[in-house]
Amino acid sequence: MPVEPARLPIVLAADPGRRLLAWYDRQGRALPWRAPAGGPAPDPYRVWLSEVMLQQTTVATVRGRFEGFVARWPDVFALARADEADVMAAWAGLGYYARARSLVACAREVARRGGFPRTAEELGRLPGIGPYTAAAVAAIAFGQPVVPVDANVARVAARVFAIDEPVHRLAAVARTKLSPWVPPDRPGDFAQALMDLGATVCRPRVPACAACPWAADCRALAQGQVAQLPRPRSRPSRRQARGMAWWIEWNGRVALERRPPSGLLGGMPGLPGTNWGGRVPSSLPFPGLWRYAAQPVRHRFTHLDLELSVAAVRLSAPPPFDPGWAWHPIDALPGLPTLYVRAAAVARALLAAP
Ligand code: ADE
Repeated sequence: MPVEPARLPIVLAADPGRRLLAWYDRQGRALPWRAPAGGPAPDPYRVWLSEVMLQQTTVATVRGRFEGFVARWPDVFALARADEADVMAAWAGLGYYARARSLVACAREVARRGGFPRTAEELGRLPGIGPYTAAAVAAIAFGQPVVPVDANVARVAARVFAIDEPVHRLAAVARTKLSPWVPPDRPGDFAQALMDLGATVCRPRVPACAACPWAADCRALAQGQVAQLPRPRSRPSRRQARGMAWWIEWNGRVALERRPPSGLLGGMPGLPGTNWGGRVPSSLPFPGLWRYAAQPVRHRFTHLDLELSVAAVRLSAPPPFDPGWAWHPIDALPGLPTLYVRAAAVARALLAAP
């Protein structure tokens, strides 16, 4: 009796696509937004939402937040009707607020059309959906034979095919080389299997090649090049910038402001302060008994190295009104970006000192 390819042991499965699926059927991660491997396709809304969340934060974080979000807005029509401010608030800790805003814009456009389009090309024209998310939704929710290439998938391809391309060309080459391996009956599982392989086996620093279903296909492994691929990103030249953050405490509360919607930490809450630029800042919003941290908080963004000086003051009367500031209880601050978590810790230590 012939044996179904999917049931063959991993090493015997005929082609690399089937071999990866056989591995995924056993080792794939069960995640709240996934349908069981080989089962009916999952809800496009859940796939789209999870992919947008996963672009900004880790699987572990999304795992803990996904069901709560879906319970509140169970489908794309509910999200389309949502108040943008409520979605922004529910998004706290999931990354840039600008994403929450484009999430609502996308939901409204999908609701207006009566549902999600099915092809990567049409999905890619929706607000806030880039090529990766478009391909992921098309493959996973609609079974389209496309390969979403994120950093994990690019790394797998760079090694399996020994692609020595700079990072900006890697995604396109990876897509071209992986496409013939997509099993026509299960493109969504193939895409998710690639993501899992990259995350759990073909890891950046310590890959588990002995556990890899593609070890026999892997040119980097055969050539002893696994550690050299993918080619490291050439170092971006970073601008140096300085700025000052102000911790203004009054009546058990601290003033926070929202950063401008675009630019670094766009739309996130933070301490008020100076602009970030080339000169050493020393400006304060008003005179007072300010304390200064001896060392700035240093923070590395992709294109900028920031030295953020910190000044702190505890007031007994309200400061001059500033329309951009909102007062938050010191012990219940909203989720702040790491830069400001560190600046806040420095400021609180300053004020706690005798
Ligand atoms: N990373 C990005 N998308 C993912 C997904 N659907 N499953 C697991 N990890 C992912």
